[in-house]
Amino acid sequence: MGLTSVVLMAVLAGIPQEELTDIPCANCHSPNAWIPLAPDHTFQHNRDTLFPLEGEHQNAECIQCHPGETAMETHAFAQAKPECSACHLDIHQNEFGSECGRCHNTSDWDMSRWNQNHDHTIFALNGMHASLACRDCHGVNFQRLAGQLTTDCFPCHSSQYRLARENPDHPDNDNCRLCHNSRAWLPIDMSQHDSEFFPIYSGSHRGTWTTCDAECHFDPSDYQIFSCGLNGVCHKHDKTKMDRKHRGEVGGYSYNSVKCYHCHSGGRGGD
Ligand code: HEC
Ligand code: HEC
Ligand code: HEC
Ligand code: HEC
Ligand code: HEC
Ligand code: HEC
Ligand code: HEC
Ligand code: HEC
Repeated sequence: MGLTSVVLMAVLAGIPQEELTDIPCANCHSPNAWIPLAPDHTFQHNRDTLFPLEGEHQNAECIQCHPGETAMETHAFAQAKPECSACHLDIHQNEFGSECGRCHNTSDWDMSRWNQNHDHTIFALNGMHASLACRDCHGVNFQRLAGQLTTDCFPCHSSQYRLARENPDHPDNDNCRLCHNSRAWLPIDMSQHDSEFFPIYSGSHRGTWTTCDAECHFDPSDYQIFSCGLNGVCHKHDKTKMDRKHRGEVGGYSYNSVKCYHCHSGGRGGD
């Protein structure tokens, strides 16, 4: 019934419908008038097109994105371009490229409530970083953005490092994340020890040590120097016992920490 009237209206208006659009006129129009569109129109942008309307786009008029003066122009729906920069002025003057959606969404351009989105960048904000203001890292007005910051801890924390190094016991190693996390500098966090160096939180060395420097890192200013608990420090690695374990079957064995590690970097016998 409604459809018949709309088609009739089209005929009366002298419009070549097939050229206007493949979608039935009644999916958008009411039988009474072309404009405004039928309030309960069955056409649904999010279901019927490839461009979902999200955020503020849901409140925009069709004609703002599908502009035109004649019916032919307004119905050339497929001509709308989906890239943000096709419709929005790039205030950054192409400094960040045309993919505005990388940093913005369709709700508002304001970046100050953006903390959760940060997890989609190459640097998630964890620990203390999550409660900082954007300007603490990016500077006032975002002077420093992508490409000007690194995810390395050192460039942002060189002054803390200098202070920490005033303590002669602090390791001479500026790869902070080996030993620290972003929650606090102390206590140190060595959870990467197992995957990076040698399993001490898992496997047969789990729970067998008390402090870093007692048996293994006897020079606390240089963690590259280590001992495998030899020379009686660790009863399990007692020389007579070890010599017996390796005698005969293992070529290249000697009672030397670097050699032990070379053959046992996984912390297990035989690897
Ligand atoms: C997908 C939705 C949609 C379909 C389908 C559709 N239209 Fe439209 N039509 C519009 C929109 C949007 C406008 C512009 C509304 C405005 O100006 O605010 C419009 C406007 C019009 C106008 C008024 C043009 C003017 O400039 O005053 C006519 C006439 C019209 N449509 C005819 C048709 C006919 C005939 C059909 C079927 C062949 C049809 N429309 C199918 C969405 C649609
Ligand atoms: C925020 C902008 C925006 C608004 C508002 C908007 N559209 Fe779209 N629309 C687009 C974009 C972008 C496309 C994708 C065009 C493409 O890539 O094919 C599209 C696609 C379409 C298509 C499918 C075209 C095709 O053949 O693929 C139709 C039909 C359409 N829109 C009708 C409407 C109608 C009717 C309204 C209002 C109820 C509307 N649009 C509101 C941006 C918008
Ligand atoms: C086809 C055109 C079109 C495309 C593509 C488009 N927008 Fe929009 N956008 C609009 C229109 C029209 C409005 C409503 C503007 C108004 O009412 O003043 C709008 C509104 C907005 C708003 C609300 C604030 C404002 O400016 O009014 C934001 C934010 C926004 N768009 C972001 C985006 C982002 C991000 C993309 C890409 C992911 C994008 N838009 C793609 C047309 C488009
Ligand atoms: C690399 C991230 C990035 C990309 C990509 C990006 N922007 Fe931005 N944009 C920002 C930041 C950060 C701000 C906040 C600047 C400030 O507050 O000084 C901003 C601010 C804006 C503002 C002003 C917001 C306000 O509150 O006044 C608009 C408008 C805007 N961007 C549009 C765009 C458009 C359009 C594009 C795509 C062509 C785009 N941006 C791409 C990061 C980006
Ligand atoms: C603890 C420091 C820190 C804080 C706080 C921080 N950022 Fe970042 N941000 C970074 C680092 C590091 C990067 C990665 C730099 C790169 O991509 O080269 C980054 C990247 C970005 C990017 C670029 C995304 C891309 O795809 O290129 C945007 C946009 C951004 N931050 C916005 C923000 C906003 C908005 C806030 C505040 C809500 C914020 N940042 C708070 C450190 C921070
Ligand atoms: C883009 C700059 C930036 C990067 C990269 C960065 N931080 Fe931060 N971080 C800050 C800022 C700014 C603060 C807050 C001010 C301060 O305490 O120095 C902070 C705070 C911290 C705090 C809290 C300090 C306190 O006194 O409570 C720790 C811990 C921390 N960062 C560790 C790290 C670690 C570990 C890394 C590497 C995984 C890292 N940060 C990478 C900028 C950065
Ligand atoms: C190989 C492990 C290791 C690395 C790498 C490392 N640290 Fe540390 N850090 C420690 C240890 C162990 C302590 C505790 C030292 C002590 O108190 O004896 C410490 C303590 C600290 C403290 C606390 C000092 C205090 O007394 O409050 C800060 C700040 C600190 N480190 C910053 C850094 C920064 C910044 C980096 C990277 C540029 C870094 N550290 C790299 C192991 C490391
Ligand atoms: C040249 C390689 C090599 C060197 C050097 C070496 N090991 Fe071994 N180790 C082996 C092999 C192979 C086995 C397995 C022997 C077997 O199962 O019969 C083994 C067995 C062991 C075992 C017994 C594991 C078990 O399950 O009973 C321990 C403990 C051990 N090594 C500790 C050490 C220590 C400590 C050092 C340094 C003092 C050391 N190894 C040096 C190759 C080596």
